[in-house]
Amino acid sequence: MATGIPSPKQFNDNLDFEISYKNKEPKDKVLKTSNDVDIINLFNCGEESTNAIYYGDNLDVLKELMKNPSVKGKVKLIYIDPPYAKQQKFSSRSQEHAYDDVLVGARYLEFMRQRLIVMRELLAPDGSIYVHLDETMAFPMKLIMDEVFGAKNFRNWITRKKSNPKNSTSKKFGSISDYILFYTKTSKYVFNKPYTPWTKELGEKEYNYTEKATGRRYKKVPIHAPGIRNGETGKEWRGMLPPKGKHWQYTPSKLDEMDERGEIFWSKNGNPRRKIYLDQSPGIAFQDIWLEYKDAHNQNIEITGYPTEKNLSMLELIVKTATNEGDIVLDAFAGSGTSLVAAENLNRHWIGVDNSKLAITTMLKRLSHGSEKMGDFVMKNNEVSKQEAFVLTTESKKNFSFYVTNQIFDSPLDLIELKEILNV
Ligand SMILES: C[S@@+](CC[C@H](N)C(=O)[O-])C[C@H]1O[C@@H](n2cnc3c(N)ncnc32)[C@H](O)[C@@H]1O
Repeated sequence: MATGIPSPKQFNDNLDFEISYKNKEPKDKVLKTSNDVDIINLFNCGEESTNAIYYGDNLDVLKELMKNPSVKGKVKLIYIDPPYAKQQKFSSRSQEHAYDDVLVGARYLEFMRQRLIVMRELLAPDGSIYVHLDETMAFPMKLIMDEVFGAKNFRNWITRKKSNPKNSTSKKFGSISDYILFYTKTSKYVFNKPYTPWTKELGEKEYNYTEKATGRRYKKVPIHAPGIRNGETGKEWRGMLPPKGKHWQYTPSKLDEMDERGEIFWSKNGNPRRKIYLDQSPGIAFQDIWLEYKDAHNQNIEITGYPTEKNLSMLELIVKTATNEGDIVLDAFAGSGTSLVAAENLNRHWIGVDNSKLAITTMLKRLSHGSEKMGDFVMKNNEVSKQEAFVLTTESKKNFSFYVTNQIFDSPLDLIELKEILNV
């Protein structure tokens, strides 16, 4: 009976609802509008590399990147960790102003939507986007992502444990999670499935039998699956039909081969089961709750001191999963440059954008001089040091290009200061 209600499949293909708010620009207009901004190239790495830092508003920069044929439609991974609509000003550990997170409601959603629309154009057909948010805007942003990337391209809503439990006095449960929305551009995408290696204890618990002849650990699984089949897998094997309403998981000839190799376990009453070996398992597949990637939480962890700096190992996991060596990673809200360092460590190309002066100087320092242990940010008398003066190394200038938009400077002094750091 036709009810007029779309089936789940239809729903995923054509979203029949969307979030509405004032001043929502049509998609075409977002893509067409040119912001007429000059982008100045302060130095070029000279090599065949896409690596670049852009200092400017990311909408201007993303639109500029649309004109670059080696970037448009070529980006394999976009990771963004934008402002979360917290109505808060963020400063570094040295109390230097980093950025203001003040947009809320519809203005926030439209700010994000316009940038996401352009980002989608930059993604490769087999590219992925990971959007890091917290509970403030994750729900409406899921609807925006469904609209821009298609609900059928939604892959995961990842919950990350961001910190250790806090003993706060507020009258609610402690908040120690944030969220990453994972979408792809199409149904064919790079996904180098990550696994956690088995520990001895867990491996032996899950694979609870030992083969006498070889000493190999294994577990037993059924060789049949639900559903009736009329082909080979529904036929007799070794004088047995599959149980009622089921079929063999393999053709009888394949089952013979497995049995010959000793991979079938026969119980006393003649029941066959397949052996799955621990030494052939790549580990435990990652799920959508990540507990091991808290942000800096002890004095020995190396950090830049930039607020909201994310866990480098988590970024390495995302980069490894969504790209291969030589692919391009883009972060349009790069902050201290965590995703850029992850990409660099894994031999990927990277493009980072930020409009905060402190973010730019922090990522420049990080890329050329590394980070410091969290404990080193606290001085003897409890005074915290300001970011120390530094100059970009010649080595790092060979590794990436640097661009700035003409919209960014409040005073020409800033440009002079930046040029001193860049040594240009
Ligand atoms: C949450 S922080 C990113 C932190 C980063 N993931 C890290 O590990 O350090 C958000 C960043 O977005 C930047 N940002 C906000 N609005 C921007 C805009 N319109 N264009 C470029 N960057 C922007 C801020 O300056 C800030 O550095």
